[in-house]
Amino acid sequence: MTIQLTVLATGGTIAGIAGSAIGHDYRAGEIGIEDYLEQVGGLGLEAELSGRQIANIDSADMGPGVWNALHPAIMEALADPACNGVIVTHGTDTLEETAFLLDLTLPATKPVVVVGAMRPADAVGYDGLRNFANAVRVASNPDAAGRGTLVVMGDRMFAARDVRKVRTRGAEAFRGFPRESIGLVTPSSLEWFGAPWQRGDGARFAWCDDLPEVAILYVHAALEADMLGRLIGPQTRGVVVAGVGEGNMPEPVRQALAALSTRGIAVVRASRTEEGLVDREPEDEANGFVAARALNPQKARILLQLLLASGESDPAALQRAFDGR
Ligand code: SIN
Repeated sequence: MTIQLTVLATGGTIAGIAGSAIGHDYRAGEIGIEDYLEQVGGLGLEAELSGRQIANIDSADMGPGVWNALHPAIMEALADPACNGVIVTHGTDTLEETAFLLDLTLPATKPVVVVGAMRPADAVGYDGLRNFANAVRVASNPDAAGRGTLVVMGDRMFAARDVRKVRTRGAEAFRGFPRESIGLVTPSSLEWFGAPWQRGDGARFAWCDDLPEVAILYVHAALEADMLGRLIGPQTRGVVVAGVGEGNMPEPVRQALAALSTRGIAVVRASRTEEGLVDREPEDEANGFVAARALNPQKARILLQLLLASGESDPAALQRAFDGR
């Protein structure tokens, strides 16, 4: 049986061009999906690929405009009996946010793999071809379904919930936390470290094309509480605190956030550290705060947006959702 995969392209360095094999500067999102598929056609991949250009952007510009086109395109591909899996090409800078958003809003019926590259297509050592060939291997594997949205970078497979970009340069720029990678892949081999955990499950959240506004407050030494007044607008429904250490903040900021919580603004404490596990602390109950657990601030923001969009705003219910898988 021929494996058929749908490739949805959004841009990024995997589709980037430098104009020089050794230069530093380049433009992300330059190569169109048809040209890209023609290039990978020479690799002899064991799958039939059909492509669709959703966007061709630097992923710093990723957001609802593209997500609202990407999500229905994936749903359409998943519903097509001829399609065995979906690959999304994406810039690495915000890849973890898109992957987590998809993870929370797609059914776990067929493999969905997000892949990027750290070097543009004409650079020496371009990692995009290998990462893409690996993504094809993963998306062709029926065992990839039931692990949520997957991210493939540098011969490793990550669960969307865990993956994070931890380096600005080099092909090994991604890590997982609290789980490291969940398997190893090359263009010709694949090894999972465990069994699928959600095979056949429905989407955890309904898709929302108008996500509520949630701000991230980055805590630093000498942060003053009046910064919150500048950060929060009339439409803001939640604040994720990128706190120091285990989600900590100066006392005046804590008090200002507790006051916001009494006005119905959801407050989630995350950590600005790279591998931050933030547990509930005794004061959270009185302050109406929620602990982000292992989610970093940008992922905590996505989960909070979906929770608020689904009508959930009670801190205890929000905490249960953050405590969950
Ligand atoms: C981007 O995120 O679009 C640029 C950087 C990258 O893809 O590595």
